Amino acid sequence: MPNDLRTRLKGYLSDEELKLIRAFDIVGDIAIVKLPPRLLPKKHLIGKALLEVQKNVRTVLNQISPVKGDFRTRELEVIAGEERTETIHRESGCSFKVDLRKVYFSPRLAAERLRVAKQVEPGEVVVNLFAGVGSYSIIIARHSQAAVIYSIDINPAAFEYMQTNIRINKVADRVVPILGDAREVVEKRLAGKADRVLMPLPELSHDFFGVALSALKPTGGIVHFYDYGEEPDIYGPSLDFVRSNAAAQGLEIKLLAARKIRSYAVRCYHIVLDLKVSRPEI
Ligand SMILES: C[S@@+](CC[C@H](N)C(=O)[O-])C[C@H]1O[C@@H](n2cnc3c(N)ncnc32)[C@H](O)[C@@H]1O
Repeated sequence: MPNDLRTRLKGYLSDEELKLIRAFDIVGDIAIVKLPPRLLPKKHLIGKALLEVQKNVRTVLNQISPVKGDFRTRELEVIAGEERTETIHRESGCSFKVDLRKVYFSPRLAAERLRVAKQVEPGEVVVNLFAGVGSYSIIIARHSQAAVIYSIDINPAAFEYMQTNIRINKVADRVVPILGDAREVVEKRLAGKADRVLMPLPELSHDFFGVALSALKPTGGIVHFYDYGEEPDIYGPSLDFVRSNAAAQGLEIKLLAARKIRSYAVRCYHIVLDLKVSRPEI
């Protein structure tokens, strides 16, 4: 919690209560807090204090459910400021219009999105299996010379915002938005096309790893495999999984990089493996 927010709330909240306020996210001009039940009676006070210390914030939302469901959305309530959940967020020179109630968006993935974008080579065909409002895809388009980035999402609202964001960021010549289930879309339209596949949905990465492999060109390519890992062996189980699945299809995996993106519980991490997939010469 920033010090000025702590100072502003001193006297209204006990020291115990102050300790319960955790880091909050800012998306565009909206701040999102996750208040524990004990602080709910003081939610409007906390929201107002946040509006006062964060001059660019116009609305404060409290997250009242975990991120859930196929669309990875969450329930939010306005606790201070303007009654809205739509905003425009700026990241890495791009703008993303989002409605935080209707779509998934996390500003905490900014560094990861840029890291992936910087690896993309000129002329690559990229397939993003879980594209959301287009954040990875548009940042790749703006920071690389990829030939085309196919961007799939199953949530109609995310698809609509993705179309808007493609227009706002002027990348319609290279980012192709597709509404649908990634498995069906790859089977019907994208099998064997990709130099690089992104799988930014850890909950489905095991189920969809075969889909990612089938999207790659016959000679192989790169897969960014997002997963969860726990200490002491953070990457081992994910690596065993991808290696054995690839081997069953006659493919080899070389690990290019393994990174923790953020921790989500004690000793548990959201991770990414950058994998080079190739078909060994017979
Ligand atoms: C964690 S979000 C990632 C969004 C985006 N990559 C980002 O970083 O902002 C996962 C997205 O996958 C989408 N999704 C879930 N199941 C899907 C499926 N079977 N096919 C395509 N998209 C799916 C959800 O609607 C959601 O927008």
